[in-house]
Amino acid sequence: MYRSQTCGELRSSHIGSEVSLSGWVHKVRDKGFVVWVDLRDRYGLTQLVFDDERTQKELLEKARTLGRETVIKATGQVIERASKNPNIPTGDIELLVSSIEILNDSLVPPFTIEDDTDGGEDIRMKYRYLDIRRNPVKNNLIFRHKVAMEVRKHLSDQGFIEVETPYLIKSTPEGARDFVVPSRMNEGQFYALPQSPQTFKQLLMVGGMDKYFQIVKCFRDEDLRADRQPEFTQIDCEMAFVEQEDVLTAFEGLTKHLLKEIKGLDVADFPRVTYDEAMKRYGNDKPDIRFGMEFGELNDVAQHKEFNVFNSAELVVGIAVPGGNSYTRKEIDKLIDWVKRPQVGAKGMVYCRCNEDGSYKSSVDKFYDQNDLTKWAAVTGAKSGDLILVLSGKEHETRTQLSALRMELAERMGLRKPDEFAPLWVVDFPLLELDEETGHYHAMHHPFTSPKPGQLALLDTDPAAVRANAYDLVLNGNEIGGGSIRIHDKKTQEIMFKHLGFTPEEAKAQFGFLMDAFQYGAPPHGGIAFGLDRLVSILGGQETIRDFIAFPKNNSGRDVMIDAPSPIDDEQLKELNLKLDL
Ligand code: AMO
Repeated sequence: MYRSQTCGELRSSHIGSEVSLSGWVHKVRDKGFVVWVDLRDRYGLTQLVFDDERTQKELLEKARTLGRETVIKATGQVIERASKNPNIPTGDIELLVSSIEILNDSLVPPFTIEDDTDGGEDIRMKYRYLDIRRNPVKNNLIFRHKVAMEVRKHLSDQGFIEVETPYLIKSTPEGARDFVVPSRMNEGQFYALPQSPQTFKQLLMVGGMDKYFQIVKCFRDEDLRADRQPEFTQIDCEMAFVEQEDVLTAFEGLTKHLLKEIKGLDVADFPRVTYDEAMKRYGNDKPDIRFGMEFGELNDVAQHKEFNVFNSAELVVGIAVPGGNSYTRKEIDKLIDWVKRPQVGAKGMVYCRCNEDGSYKSSVDKFYDQNDLTKWAAVTGAKSGDLILVLSGKEHETRTQLSALRMELAERMGLRKPDEFAPLWVVDFPLLELDEETGHYHAMHHPFTSPKPGQLALLDTDPAAVRANAYDLVLNGNEIGGGSIRIHDKKTQEIMFKHLGFTPEEAKAQFGFLMDAFQYGAPPHGGIAFGLDRLVSILGGQETIRDFIAFPKNNSGRDVMIDAPSPIDDEQLKELNLKLDL
């Protein structure tokens, strides 16, 4: 028997009992006449004690030489600690050790296994198994498990059935590139790894499963960011015989359940904004609504004066920064430099101070008088003591730039509080999006999303105006889920593919199976998929999903621990028919 208890279990009620613990040597403190060893496992730390009086000399010597991270079994008697440690649950007791057994040695770890480690990201990723021994990483994984369990429990209680769908499939477009897998048995042919189980969940609806979910890996070959990994996990869901309202209700229910069970929060019904409104008010289709600084459109009050920069702009738009009048000229100049960085891309920024005495002082006083600036303040909702910041230019770009500034300021001002949760639905997304480079339209969500009822004909005349039965769930400025009501008849799906630039032959070759299935009594259906990694990290008060994934990839898509991707040998290439010149 390796252990009678774990290292997090012993309390004063155990005083006097003989126990065995197994774990890792966390720290050895040698005071000469007494040696303390902190023994650690997943459950906690227990202090082991060896001393001159009560411990055999040999054993005391052995304790003294224990290296960090050595795996040992310690047996002894639980005793009351002379000086208690209120910071840990086992802090009232210690184990007076009568024997230790070394179960395995350890090299000196390349970084300290402490909450605040000295190891940088790269080294921790290379030795991720050591990183996982640290509380912050370990606790994130336990937290993720809890969230996943609650998801399964809630959805199962609501009648959803978890069904697994295949990983070796054919391309399912979700807007990224596919990872492909060569087929040995089918020369020259490739599987694609699913970007999502989208088509399969729709086929499950045709199959009459009615309510499906799956916690499932998805694979997307796209550029990585803090909230993106090439393989990530979705809570993928689909329901038959539903309209948009039914889906929103069901998954608002799941999100509320999670906020309650995981964070102990009761949240009110989620606000809903249309895509157009979100863009207008926040310049962003995933607005963080934990704070204000909503956009004020200034075209009417700032154009047609002598200031040509504004006159020639498609959009003049500003925000009021609460208390921003306290910024020094230097600080404002720094902000101007910030919006001019290539990552943001603004050409410049106009500002207007709202003084305590009710007067205004702007960087464009030459063109605007107090009366004009009063209107700016009214439109942006600025009060005395605030600072109005104004950008102008092409409509979409300018909104995006101001949104970046709004988020940056909120971050700096501490308004993005990790323990505050503000979910909302963004609805009525455009069905199509114009790719400026190619001049082609592509599906904003995916090609299986249905247009709003009655808008199909509009596809021919004004494709950009068509709205979809598509929705996103946004939490604290992050898109944590997205879904739609689907097309469920062959004809509409064909029209959709046509507008996306597929020839009938291409559509048939790629998605014939789905359109065939639609001919055998496909029920109306719709669904959603949550990004589990994102959901978990935001519930955990963070935005880097890597920290909530046991073995994540780095920003170049590499697993530096196992060194993947890596070349494969010629034999293997030949077997896969990928080495043509052998
Ligand atoms: P979508 O593409 O919006 O929809 O994806 C759903 C959710 O998955 C998360 N997500 C990611 N998380 C981490 N890394 C990534 N690379 C990544 N990409 C997406 C996001 C996103 O909201 N089949 C549809 C769903 C549906 O229509 O039901 C789909 O996949 O949180």
